[in-house]
Parts: sequence; structure tokens; C-alpha cells
Amino acid sequence: MSNIVIISGSSYSGSRLYGLIEAIQNQLKELGHQVSLIEVAELPAEDLIRANWNSIAVKDALHVVEDAEAVVIASPVYKASYSGVLKTFLDLIPQKGLERKVLLPLFIGGSLAHLLTIDYALKPVLSSLGATHILQGVYAVDQWVEKREDGGFTLSEDLLARTLMAGEQLHSVL
Ligand SMILES: Cc1cc2nc3c(=O)[nH]c(=O)nc-3n(C[C@H](O)[C@H](O)[C@H](O)COP(=O)(O)O)c2cc1C
Repeated sequence: MSNIVIISGSSYSGSRLYGLIEAIQNQLKELGHQVSLIEVAELPAEDLIRANWNSIAVKDALHVVEDAEAVVIASPVYKASYSGVLKTFLDLIPQKGLERKVLLPLFIGGSLAHLLTIDYALKPVLSSLGATHILQGVYAVDQWVEKREDGGFTLSEDLLARTLMAGEQLHSVL
């Protein structure tokens, strides 16, 4: 059993990104892992924007990352990159704070146009934080995640299969 943290860079909890997050979170829990979720948008905005390392909420979240063997980085694609919300938190992670951790990117965009965001925008940041083991990850498109009336999400068959495969891959290296 490993400690895994999912960092969500979504601005709001109703985002289809949570369809991906829920799928992988449930899977990893069923596989016996301890899974935590950090919703960056729920941390005090002023602490994030002013990079307040003395903030209790920020310290607590950073401890969760420190204790994790694996980090799932979940973000919507905004303006051809990961979200600014996510970056406010990544900026607070100490130098080499992702060393010896397995990283799994989980992204969703409005189209496939920005598929390479994970490679061109996210990976250099993760590398600068010491990550050397970055799994291929999942890139989803909005239309593959249906919002249900009960507030839940239904992933397309192919997306669900790819997401679960990514979870399996993460599990196999822990
Ligand atoms: C401010 C903003 C910028 C966006 N920029 C992009 C973009 O550059 N490329 C892209 O594929 N999708 C872009 N999108 C679409 C979102 O990635 C996508 O709608 C979101 O991940 C999932 O939708 P939901 O949060 O409404 O469920 C953008 C959305 C917003 C709100």
C-alpha cells in the first residue's frame, strides 16, 4: 500500500476533470492505496497568490505531498497550458520536492489541439522539481466525459479504459 496524492488544478468542483479524478481515485483505493485529494482552489487564495509558506493550510497540503510516493497531477487545459490555479501550488513545492516520486498527469481540454500541453508545459516544471519518473498520463477531451443529472460523471468507454490502464500502470510501479 502506498500514499498517493491527487492534486487538482480545477477552478471548480463541477468540472469534468473530476470525472477522471473520481475514476482513478476509486480504482487506486480499491487496489489498496491511501489516496488523498488536494483541491488547490479550496486552499486560501491569498496564501497561494502571495506564496505564503507560513500558512497552515499550505503547510498541511505540502506535508501530504511530501508523504506521498506518487502524485497525480490533474488539470484542465487553460490557454494551451495547465491551469494557473495549479501553478500557484506547484510554485510552493520545495526545490526537488518531487524527487523519488512517481508522477501521473491527468489532463482535460476542450479539444485535442493542446494534447502536447503535458509534454511541453507540465513536464519541464515537474522535472525542475526533481521528478524523474513521469508516467505517460491521460489526456481527455470534454466530450468524452458526460455530466449526469445526479452530479456524477460518465466517461466514454475508451477514456475509462485508458484512465484505468494509467491507474494500473501507476499501481504496478509502486
Ligand atoms: C479560461 C479557459 C481557457 C481554456 N483554454 C483551453 C485551451 O487552450 N485548450 C483547450 O483544449 N481547452 C481549453 N479550455 C477548455 C477546458 O480545458 C475544458 O473545458 C475543461 O477542461 C473541462 O470543462 P469543464 O471544466 O467545463 O467541465 C479552456 C477553458 C477555460 C475556461
